[in-house]
Amino acid sequence: MCGIIGYAGGKQAAPVILKGLERLEYRGYDSSGIAVIDGERIDVIKTCGKIKALYAKTDCGAKPNGTVGIGHTRWATHGVPSDVNSHPHTSQDGRFSIVHNGIIENFAELKAELTAHGIKFAGDTDSEVIAQLMQYLYDGDVLGTLRLVTERLIGSYAIGMICTETPDVVYAVRKDNPLVIGLGKNENFIASDIAAALEYTHDFVQLGESEFAKLTAHAVTFYDVNGTPVEKTPYRVDWDISQAEKSGYPHFMLKEIYEQPRALTETVRPRIRGNEITLDRIALDAKNANTFDKIDIIGCGSAYHAGIVGKAFMEKYCRIRVNCMLASEYIYSDPITDNRTLTIIISQSGETADTLAALRLAKKLGSHTVAIVNVMESAIAREADDVLYTHAGPEIAVATTKGYTTQVAALYLIGLKIAKIKHTVSDARYNELLSEIEKLPNKVQTILDDISQIKDYAEKYAEHKCVFFIGRGTDYAASLEGALKLKEISYIHAEAYAAGELKHGTISLIEKGTITLALVTQSALQPKMLSNIKAVQSREGTVLCVATPKTKDVGSDADGLLVIPDGDDDVTPVLTAVVLQIFAYYVAAKRGCDIDKPRNLAKSVTVE
Ligand code: AGP
Repeated sequence: MCGIIGYAGGKQAAPVILKGLERLEYRGYDSSGIAVIDGERIDVIKTCGKIKALYAKTDCGAKPNGTVGIGHTRWATHGVPSDVNSHPHTSQDGRFSIVHNGIIENFAELKAELTAHGIKFAGDTDSEVIAQLMQYLYDGDVLGTLRLVTERLIGSYAIGMICTETPDVVYAVRKDNPLVIGLGKNENFIASDIAAALEYTHDFVQLGESEFAKLTAHAVTFYDVNGTPVEKTPYRVDWDISQAEKSGYPHFMLKEIYEQPRALTETVRPRIRGNEITLDRIALDAKNANTFDKIDIIGCGSAYHAGIVGKAFMEKYCRIRVNCMLASEYIYSDPITDNRTLTIIISQSGETADTLAALRLAKKLGSHTVAIVNVMESAIAREADDVLYTHAGPEIAVATTKGYTTQVAALYLIGLKIAKIKHTVSDARYNELLSEIEKLPNKVQTILDDISQIKDYAEKYAEHKCVFFIGRGTDYAASLEGALKLKEISYIHAEAYAAGELKHGTISLIEKGTITLALVTQSALQPKMLSNIKAVQSREGTVLCVATPKTKDVGSDADGLLVIPDGDDDVTPVLTAVVLQIFAYYVAAKRGCDIDKPRNLAKSVTVE
């Protein structure tokens, strides 16, 4: 997704903006640019390629000159990656320059209208219509004109803008795309993500839906959709900028894999007091927990996979129907949802467009919504009825790791709390599970203390073209995430399959050289898994088992064995996830892939 940063302050804007763009690189991009007001004019430098190309063109931030500017990393949606299609886009008369994240769905008709009025477009992006429309509608009031422009836009947008008429001001407006305002000392920022300004301030304001902001070095004013001034309450982010840096690791992904013990501790520990689970502001009690006749869990990608794991846990212990759906499917499925449905929305970024749309639909249908989110004050966190934050800290790598495992842990807490309220779990079993959940950080640390065997298998199997992940029950749920991790960073085709289903067709793909990772952590299902492993091997497939000390005998029939720390079968997905993250990481490393910024992917998909 595109990244936006804007600066109004006393420093030269270019170095601040370039540094901020570097912190937004993880969002995925193909070009970048900067625009700074230098006296009477706006100086724009932009280029295809990585940020280092922009550093080269700006003499390492020595230019453009000026203290008010905007910057952008572009993830192309309309118009090929090229210098001219890079942002910022400037109006034909040079008066306005804008950066945009999102999609203007009616850009073609706007472009036709503006072209008919003699305005010449430089490129072929949807975003450029914003700059040209500013020129076309400009009536002397910059903010008022920006409001008129947004009234003409259909689609999603986070916009940063500068104007030669008001050389000390950065403007911002957003709809369906994130934009945060950083409040510094004699300097202020706009950014797609707090990481871009965290070096300069820990005080932020999330710009609300269809709200405007006007920033100078010394003041920030906010306006609602009608242009009426509104008061906003800042919040303080306690993340340290070092958390948004690699700190000696070769990749953010590896750093974040190793941060999981801390992330799990900070997500779980503060919510367990004695043997009571407290879920922050979530109002779950005997009354409402019994008003729900089903639970819908909704997310995308890994968040969806966390939901599948949570579904298995909650159905087993809450004895309530749990549906887990892809957000992009849910929003067009005419869902059977009402005030007796508890809807759990999962999103690390809290800005995923499909998931945000699903949240809004569930609320409209009367469902009580609980969001499991990592980024504070993100759109999903703000719009859900309740929010349970995963305290994983900033997750920079596109491939989520600590985001996923903390989501699973949060689902365990919610499920166990509901089960206790509904008396669908015995006290003894409740205490066992609570103790197991509390031990997860230490067990993950045990895995991380020696990853050599996982790394050896990864490097051994790195050149295979086809990998299957199979499992039954909660192992099948866990295998979904294992397959995605491998796919998204190593570009190897990988598929998760219910082990019992393989024989109903897909086993025809198994041949010599096919690698199958078999998750065998469910003791009761071990005999069945053994049959499935044999079936794969009888077709000359290679099988690597991931087992527990209780099920590791299955490894004597396999081609390889990895054993996770002993524990409770019902919470193994957090542990197997860490093993499979490390496996995927070292396969991708062996293949020389761009692990933190895999091709075609973005960290937060803010378009539907
Ligand atoms: C996971 O590794 C991917 N980066 C992706 O599937 C991600 O989980 C998905 O896009 C959902 O993102 P969210 O959790 O920020 O909503």
